[in-house]
Amino acid sequence: MRNILKNKFHGIEIYNEAEKMSNVLKEKNIKKVDFIISGLPFTVLEKNIRETILEQAYENLEENGKFITFQYSLDLYGYLKKKYRQLEVKIVPLNIPMAFVYVCTK
Ligand SMILES: C[S@@+](CC[C@H](N)C(=O)[O-])C[C@H]1O[C@@H](n2cnc3c(N)ncnc32)[C@H](O)[C@@H]1O
Repeated sequence: MRNILKNKFHGIEIYNEAEKMSNVLKEKNIKKVDFIISGLPFTVLEKNIRETILEQAYENLEENGKFITFQYSLDLYGYLKKKYRQLEVKIVPLNIPMAFVYVCTK
């Protein structure tokens, strides 16, 4: 995945730990971002790491910014519904296993 992305998007920077996104953005003097797109498996992450990433994702988004993530369950639904101004869940029935794409607007 790393190599595919590097070949496709020249100059892309890749980091391992999503829970450090706030530090990385601060170092780069980036205040807020418009989009966060994630394929992280939130359901199986340790609770404190999951919560850190989800909180930081929200905090680092611009107003009206979007957090988009695909998951294999609706486990995040309640949390994201409370947190974001708008939540749309798209079902991808032909994926194996069936997947859900959450589109959250701050
Ligand atoms: C379901 S795969 C998704 C792969 C790819 N990102 C995609 O969207 O197609 C989940 C990926 O999350 C990565 N991952 C797990 N914990 C992580 C973390 N704390 N920070 C960054 N990546 C993490 C794993 O290494 C794995 O590659």
